[in-house]
Amino acid sequence: MTTFKNIEQELLQSHRFLKNLIKSAVDAIIAADMTGKILLFNDAACEICGYKVNEVIEKLNIQAIYPDNDAKRVMHILRSDKYGEKGVLRSFRVDIKKKSGEIIPISLNASIVYDDDKEVATLGFFHDLRETLKIEEELEKTRVQLLQSAKMASVGELAAGVAHQLNNPLGGITLYSQLLMEDYTLPDGAQQDLKRIIRDAQRCTDTVQELLKFSRQTTNEMHLQDINQLLSETLILVKDQTLFHNIEIKKNFQNNLPLVPVDIQQIKHVFMNIILNAADAMEGQGVLSLFTSHEEPLSDRVCITISDTGHGIPDDILIKIFDPFFTTKEQGKGTGLGLSMAYRIVEDHGGKMSAESKTGEGTNFLIELMLPETESEKTFE
Ligand SMILES: Nc1ncnc2c1ncn2[C@@H]1O[C@H](COP(=O)(O)OP(=O)(O)O)[C@@H](O)[C@H]1O
Ligand SMILES: [Mg+2]
Repeated sequence: MTTFKNIEQELLQSHRFLKNLIKSAVDAIIAADMTGKILLFNDAACEICGYKVNEVIEKLNIQAIYPDNDAKRVMHILRSDKYGEKGVLRSFRVDIKKKSGEIIPISLNASIVYDDDKEVATLGFFHDLRETLKIEEELEKTRVQLLQSAKMASVGELAAGVAHQLNNPLGGITLYSQLLMEDYTLPDGAQQDLKRIIRDAQRCTDTVQELLKFSRQTTNEMHLQDINQLLSETLILVKDQTLFHNIEIKKNFQNNLPLVPVDIQQIKHVFMNIILNAADAMEGQGVLSLFTSHEEPLSDRVCITISDTGHGIPDDILIKIFDPFFTTKEQGKGTGLGLSMAYRIVEDHGGKMSAESKTGEGTNFLIELMLPETESEKTFE
């Protein structure tokens, strides 16, 4: 009698243990009979699907947790040997539908449970993919950024080389044209032509100088600066220009912004480029907003957003705006170097720069600049 009691006790214990294992598994575990009636629904399943267990067991059909007709599709694939042997599915990407209707991406491992040859149930392990997909998305973003940096580095080098090569002959063209003008009495027409040559050569020299600045590798004078002040100083330079007369400027600066180490001239150059582009995009009419913030106390960076209410940038163009020489402006107006230079400068400062836009509504440029490392951080290196 005691032995019988003991066995019963042991069975009960092991049953409880198995139940707890299933209950506390990280992945959702769901079993259903062959009509789809749910027989097992662990805590993670409740969490992922948004149901309480008593709303589900023997009440809900498994079809309800799939969007559209996906339950049938999964059964069909499960019975085929397309993904693993017949009756088994491994790491199969499906969506499930929460009680609220929200769609959750899932990696499903499932099998059909057989009794002899008869199908009696289905058992599925549902792994929530949201976190993984988010990480993959971040990785993809970083990959695109890296690609952009590499592209800019190589174009930058090329530009520097070409600029150096052009510098001397351009000097020659200007010099000898001037000598021609001075040393000979030339008919009026020829004088005009020579003036034109000198003027155009000067334009080329300006572009070459821009290119040389662009390809400069290092940041020079790093000092701790108040970004609010740098933005205000940049605004003073532009706001009296005619282009800005009908542009409302809104400043939304966070007080007591921590100082960041920057090269003043270069960072002002970045702000200036973005602000001038914004004015161009608004064709002299609209609202230019400048925000600064530091998400205290944990954040290691200061964020600057410069927004305009201009024509915006379509997606297929947005991916190109930081490319050197990319411009949508007419010849003579745009060099296409402004944003690529700005990107390079921010990157040289260890910061980040990005843009988001809605066509017809406007564009936001976001710049993140890093705070100096604190002493405690340094000692952990
Ligand atoms: N705020 C903005 N709104 C709309 N388009 C913009 C904005 N800023 C930049 N762009 C687009 O990005 C392109 C590249 O800008 P940039 O590198 O400064 O070169 P550029 O101003 O000489 O054309 C611009 O020609 C324009 O198409
Ligand atoms: Mg520009």
